[in-house]
Amino acid sequence: MLRARIISTGSYVPENVVTNTDLEQIVDTSDEWIIERTGIRERRIVDGNQATSDLACEAALKALKNADVKARDIDLIIVATISGDMPFPSTACFLQQKLGAKKAAAFDLNAACSGFLYGLHIANSLIKSGAHKKILLVGAEVLSKFTDWSDRTTCVLFGDGAGAVLLEGTKEKCGIYSTHIYSDGSLSDLISLPGGGSKYPCSKETILKRLHFMKMKGNETFKVAVRTLEELASRTLEENSLDPSQLSLLIPHQANLRIIQATAKRLGLSTEKVFINIEKYGNTSSASIPIAIDEAVQSGKCREGEYILLEAFGGGLTWASALIRW
Ligand code: COA
Repeated sequence: MLRARIISTGSYVPENVVTNTDLEQIVDTSDEWIIERTGIRERRIVDGNQATSDLACEAALKALKNADVKARDIDLIIVATISGDMPFPSTACFLQQKLGAKKAAAFDLNAACSGFLYGLHIANSLIKSGAHKKILLVGAEVLSKFTDWSDRTTCVLFGDGAGAVLLEGTKEKCGIYSTHIYSDGSLSDLISLPGGGSKYPCSKETILKRLHFMKMKGNETFKVAVRTLEELASRTLEENSLDPSQLSLLIPHQANLRIIQATAKRLGLSTEKVFINIEKYGNTSSASIPIAIDEAVQSGKCREGEYILLEAFGGGLTWASALIRW
């Protein structure tokens, strides 16, 4: 059976580190509160000139180099992002130009923090159907430019970064075994960036109301996320007839350490089977899972033949999972 397989990974985070102590200088918060409630110690923030496609390009170049693949061999580029360079053209088209991927079609995908796994679902389907052979899937965000740096309930949470994977077909036992994507638009007001679209186009009023920044009802989101992800992880394993003990690694979206720990506890996974890097980067939305996969690969945690579970939850609401055999 043909399925898609990740043949290489790459990631990039900006050099500029912003610590919790730095944030104590601009909002009423503390290093202790942020670590206790979220697990975040620091995050990376771009300098003024970098846009999302610049981060995406750095991550993609590493993925291409690691697979020894030329950009001209890619036939599709998908960029999962909620902080693209411009409303249009797509960030994927900017990336296509930067890479010189002349044969690739390119489009963006918006499923907020679940974007990378939505992209994996699409990429897997397109490779299985034979429509595409070599797909570059990137999750990239510059959320710092959409963050209200006077709002302590959101500004401590997010960071910038990008992760990329190259996918191609395989008939071996490795690859993507299943992907699962879901949404519930009735809870769209829990996390959003209201301004700048056709509903609230940019005006003096939308700027004064700070509608061009991310808004989140953190506590309500937290409760739905814990409930949804615990259930999703168990169901994904069941659908693959796997017991949690057969899982080698859980790579979750890095939104909150307490949410990650709740899922791990429900599955009975020990700490070493859960990949966590939230302390270094905060929540990088659709970039968080591909950055984590790349770091897991670099540190030897993705071993051939082993089962890896990916899961994410984000604005929309959206949630998604994937079961991979490495
Ligand atoms: N520093 C200090 N105090 C803060 C603070 C900060 N940065 N942010 C909020 N607080 C305060 C609140 O004002 C509140 O004070 P009050 O009790 O006097 O009203 C108190 O801390 C508790 O706030 P609450 O929102 O209930 O905290 P929480 O335990 O839910 O943690 C989040 C807040 C945002 C960390 C947490 O809700 C969360 O991670 N939510 C989900 C994020 C997520 O999964 N998003 C989906 C993917 S993007």
